Formats: sequence, structure tokens, C-alpha cells
Amino acid sequence: MADLEHLKKEAAERAAALVTSGMRVGLGTGSTAKYAIEAIGRRFQAGELSGVVGVATSEASDVLARSFGLPIEALDPRPLDIAIDGADEIDPQLNLIKGLGGALLREKLTEVQARRLVIIADHTKLVTRLGEKAPLPVEIARFGFLSTIERLRALGLGGRLRQPGAQPYLTDNGNYIFDAQLPEQFDAAALERTLKGTLGVIETGFFLGMAERAFVAAPDGVQELVR
Ligand code: A5P
Repeated sequence: MADLEHLKKEAAERAAALVTSGMRVGLGTGSTAKYAIEAIGRRFQAGELSGVVGVATSEASDVLARSFGLPIEALDPRPLDIAIDGADEIDPQLNLIKGLGGALLREKLTEVQARRLVIIADHTKLVTRLGEKAPLPVEIARFGFLSTIERLRALGLGGRLRQPGAQPYLTDNGNYIFDAQLPEQFDAAALERTLKGTLGVIETGFFLGMAERAFVAAPDGVQELVR
């Protein structure tokens, strides 16, 4: 296993160890969250966990969790005991950018209901300010998307529609994603409010003030960061 993969797995296993019997668990999306789902699944299959229910943040995580026999339920208004997910950027206050994997809307809907949001990542995700390395994914409606992109550009945001092939990337919700280039200086909370008030924008990849802790794996071990 490549070094970075090994680190991601280590961080994921630390978070998966926080899951106990009877918990309702938000299951994240992405290559790191995948390791957490596998670790929870293995503990479930070994009989270490009982009565656990998962709420999946993507079709892919749903399929993976079910492959271990984990019971999966749709999101309803009841709180989740914990949610475990990866991130694209983590700042010193544990504010996050998420959504390079495309699941930001379901992730935010799920994780806002979690008593604890635990982030798992390798050390390359740590930044001093959001937008340092990653674009900000913004989920937008397909209908009139070019007009919405114009509105985003008018806010001073560079970036591009996510289009890995001949067609734009489609989220599990049937929407498009605009990967916005953030300016050097900005107020994340204010920009989040502005974006949410922009016609055609469905959700942003800002996860501000949501994460309780992060397990971040580096070659010299797993660091536990607490907000
Ligand atoms: C999915 O939409 C994302 O929010 C992921 O959690 C994020 O992109 C991190 O993914 P990796 O663990 O694959 O880097």
C-alpha cells in the first residue's frame, strides 16, 4: 500500500474506534471515509458492534456499507451520534472544504445532524487558510447553469464547471459542480452566506464550525486535533 494510503487508513481506524454499539452513524464519502466504513464494517461482522445503523452520504458509501451487512437508513430528523468523513482542506480552527468527491450536499445534510463530526485525513489536507490548495466546490442546479456561473463570476470567483470527460460531472442529486477558485483574502462565513443567497446555488463545500475533531495521519503518527 502506498504511504499516503497507509496514513489515511490509520486515521480512519482511529475514528472508527469511536463507534460503539447502538450508535446511529453518518458515513462519509471519499477514499479516506471508505477506510472508515470498512473498519466499522469489519467490527460489525466480527460481532464487536451491534445495533449500529448507518446513514450514507453517497450511493457509493451506501453500497460499500451494505456489502458488510451494515443496516442503512435514510436520513430522518433524528440526530446522529457521530459522523465520520474525510475533507479536502482543514484549517487550524477545523473549518473545512469538502466536496472534491462530489458528495457535499448529502454530507452537509447528514453531518449537520451529528452530535460529533470527526474528520479523517492525511497531513497533506492541513492548510493555514481555506482555499490554499483546493477549489471550493459549489453545487449548482443544471437548469440555467451558465447563468448561475455568470452570477458566481460576478462575485469575483474564478474557477470552472467540473467536467472530467465529455459531459459535466453529475452529483448523486442530479446537479452540477462549479469548482470555485477562492481569492487570497476572504471572510468564509460571509462568502458562505452570499453564495447561499445566489440564485442557482444549491450548496457549498464550506463546512464551518462543524467538525469536533480530526485525526490527521503523518509519517510520524496520527495527530488528534480538537476544536
Ligand atoms: C466527498 O464529497 C468529499 O467531501 C470527501 O470527503 C473529500 O473530498 C475527501 O476525500 P478523500 O478522502 O478521497 O481525499
